[in-house]
Amino acid sequence: MSDRIDLAALPHDFLWGTATSAYQIEGAVAEDGRSPSIWDTFAHTPGRIAGDDHGDVACDHYHRWREDIGLMRQLGTNAYRLSIAWPRVVPGGDGRVNEKGLAFYDELVDGLLAAGITSSVTLYHWDLPQALQDRGGWPERETAEHFAAYAAVVAERLGDRVTHWATLNEPLCSAWIGHLEGKMAPGLTDLTAAVRASYHLLLGHGLATQAIRSAAPGAEVGIVNNLSTVHAATDRPEDEAAARRMDGHTNRWWLDPIHGRGFPTDMREVYGVELPERARDLTTIAAPLDWLGLNYYFPATVTDDPTGPAPRARQIRRAGVPRTGMDWEIDATGIETLLLRLTHDYGARRLYVTENGSAYPDVVRPDGTVEDPERQEYLVQHLAACASAARKGAPLAGYFAWSLLDNFEWAYGYEKRFGLVHVDYRTLARTIKGSGRRYADVIRAHGARAERAA
Ligand code: IFM
Repeated sequence: MSDRIDLAALPHDFLWGTATSAYQIEGAVAEDGRSPSIWDTFAHTPGRIAGDDHGDVACDHYHRWREDIGLMRQLGTNAYRLSIAWPRVVPGGDGRVNEKGLAFYDELVDGLLAAGITSSVTLYHWDLPQALQDRGGWPERETAEHFAAYAAVVAERLGDRVTHWATLNEPLCSAWIGHLEGKMAPGLTDLTAAVRASYHLLLGHGLATQAIRSAAPGAEVGIVNNLSTVHAATDRPEDEAAARRMDGHTNRWWLDPIHGRGFPTDMREVYGVELPERARDLTTIAAPLDWLGLNYYFPATVTDDPTGPAPRARQIRRAGVPRTGMDWEIDATGIETLLLRLTHDYGARRLYVTENGSAYPDVVRPDGTVEDPERQEYLVQHLAACASAARKGAPLAGYFAWSLLDNFEWAYGYEKRFGLVHVDYRTLARTIKGSGRRYADVIRAHGARAERAA
């Protein structure tokens, strides 16, 4: 199967990784001085999460991380993308630093190093300390400033061993899904709050980029965006315009400002919300980056929705196309298109696919194994599309499969499984799935090819 992937197009030092995030796997929410985050609050609000699940125990990675590094070794990965829980490190959001929280990540990074695995550290994967939410959260400017201070604390501590830093994971989800659609923490449905949050998230990104660089001079800093290809449902001009708005909402709003192009004018009009701009903010937001991260899952097909919420474009469900267990349409060409767009339209100098993966309802066989042919197919198709983008000139330096483990899939709880490794949530036992073995085969084949070429 791996012969469908043009492995020769990928550099010899390609990062083959897996990705996770703190709240989704760590558990131990009340241990060693961690304070609640907005996700603890949201998950414990009845009716917010399928099955009223929460991250209190999750995969218990906080206690089982050594075993999890062992799994990475079995997969043959040479990189691991993890996120740091802000409420473990600075429980109040600002001020006092919690040594025990830092010590956890310190040991984890050492463990990864000892296993020959490069750490790629994301500073914010949605778990804002609740204390800051109580003071207004991302719609307020001070949150961006506290984020930078927290970033400096982490970079000072880990910067002697970690070079790969991401400021934010998927700010779109924090702003749009958390503040506009209300389906993620903090659960608001307020356009003004959402637009202000989006602004301060990007400001926080810019401030944190500076803070990381001064705390850890060798740092290579990037940001992780979840992007989608957007198609108009028909060639009606209204649908074409809706597709342009959805592209603005999903892609350009997040990419243009960090590339020094400011916030897209058409979208400022669509939102009609005054941005909390101050002099020099746009320069801060556009701090030059060492790399860009792409999280890709699905394409969007949209129709005009003149009376709907911003961006007045509604995603339609196309019939007869393959879908994952999330009901997300599968289109591997989208990842190639986006990698090439980042290369040609935004001049990316280095790219990583920081997340890509699929959920399916896995079945544990009587012998304890988990075969997941659909996930294997999704993985191979998308890796082939990544290699194709690289062949066409995208400076792709790594791929991180989402996810190492089945984990807490936010509003879907534990029902949706994305892992290359199955987790039995009763016993917390881990079992590498067929897709994990498939990934290991690809990594081995790439390594063997690189060795032959050397
Ligand atoms: O689980 C999430 C992850 O936290 C962010 N990106 C998308 C994944 C799948 O939904």
